[in-house]
Amino acid sequence: MYQSFSKRQMLALTWWNRPVLQRYDGIICDGAIRSGKTLSMVTGFFLWSMVSFQDCAFALCGRTVGALRRNIVDHLHTWLGDTVDIRESRSENRLTVTDGAGRRNTYYLFGGQDESSYKLIQGITLAGVLLDEAALMPRSFVEQACARCSVAGSKLWFNCNPEGPEHWLYKEWIQKAREKNLLHLHFTMADNPALDPAIRKRYEAMYTGVFYRRYILGQWCMAEGLVYDFQRSKHIANALPEYGRYYISVDYGTCNPFSAGLWCVTGEKAVRIREFYHSGRDSGRQYTDEEYYTALEKLAGGLPIETVVVDPSAASFIATIRAHGKFSVRKARNEVLNGIRLVATYLQEGVLQFAPECKDTLREFSLYRWEENGETDRVCKENDHAMDDIRYFCATVLRRQLRRKSEENE
Ligand SMILES: Nc1ncnc2c1ncn2[C@@H]1O[C@H](COP(=O)(O)OP(=O)(O)O)[C@@H](O)[C@H]1O
Ligand SMILES: [Mg+2]
Repeated sequence: MYQSFSKRQMLALTWWNRPVLQRYDGIICDGAIRSGKTLSMVTGFFLWSMVSFQDCAFALCGRTVGALRRNIVDHLHTWLGDTVDIRESRSENRLTVTDGAGRRNTYYLFGGQDESSYKLIQGITLAGVLLDEAALMPRSFVEQACARCSVAGSKLWFNCNPEGPEHWLYKEWIQKAREKNLLHLHFTMADNPALDPAIRKRYEAMYTGVFYRRYILGQWCMAEGLVYDFQRSKHIANALPEYGRYYISVDYGTCNPFSAGLWCVTGEKAVRIREFYHSGRDSGRQYTDEEYYTALEKLAGGLPIETVVVDPSAASFIATIRAHGKFSVRKARNEVLNGIRLVATYLQEGVLQFAPECKDTLREFSLYRWEENGETDRVCKENDHAMDDIRYFCATVLRRQLRRKSEENE
């Protein structure tokens, strides 16, 4: 086990065994990413459950079982040390933990976002549940998991990074922690004694706006105003690259605008060198798929295009491109919020740049905004066409390219 924990980590580890705090029925840790919430809480959860129970069942829940394995299960040996023996039955998503005194408990692995987990957890009787990144799980799953804790002395262990202030977890659990008899601990990066200052700087430099306030400052704040922090001085390319790998990304529309961007990727940078944008409504003329295809070829301008990434719902246009047999086509990854976060990070890091001719992109950057009332983050569905094709490009092509590069460097 680790020798040095911060004060707050010690609380997350040992609250269940302290005179004033042990009366709580559970603990919620929220706050900044990389602040040591998961490590300290999971270690505390296993200590508590092994000291307090014998032959009982517990639930260990992550966003998905895969995420749970990567973030927690694979590290348990390091975190818990040699004092316990951990056996994993992969096929049954179950851990059996035995300590030196011969005590044994079972820990079932669940993924809040895995459909099957919801059904499985319904039938089980638990002495405790740990929810890692609980804000990313469906509310019904969290409530079901808590409802299964019927063994006397059972406790709930939650941790999460902040989302919007209207999020159910914030309103129903964090703000009501006292009335639900839960201990609430708020973490900042300073609570992780192992976080190297250089790594901390790197994380701080990755995020801007709402994501900075949530993930770095740990605030439950609303996504408001413009989605992206676009700065002409930083994001307009002074000179265009002369060669590189070329890609095109497409957001398809017939009445709504159609937007396509031509990208050149060199090293760690991607420059949008030109674009094609057509609004059927504004121009009073709707294009057919064939006409759009002609525009696509013109945009490519004879350059060797590696892939055309297309709006996954544009089945007819995808078929048209395939029928011409010239470009390789890929359906874009379309997880909106993850994609927006990725684009925001690339903008912040200076990875994305734009030729000054990309007028419709520049216009949309100055208009694309968050919808400001709602329980979850949502973007206004207008002025989002170039914004969508940029997101498709980043989530589908650039993410892989940059990851592959950093893997080569390691
Ligand atoms: N007291 C500690 N000693 C050593 N490493 C730590 C300590 N606390 C956290 N870490 C490491 O720091 C990183 C971030 O911790 P983690 O618990 O995953 O943060 P969070 O859940 O808040 O994002 C992990 O690699 C974790 O193993
Ligand atoms: Mg964590």
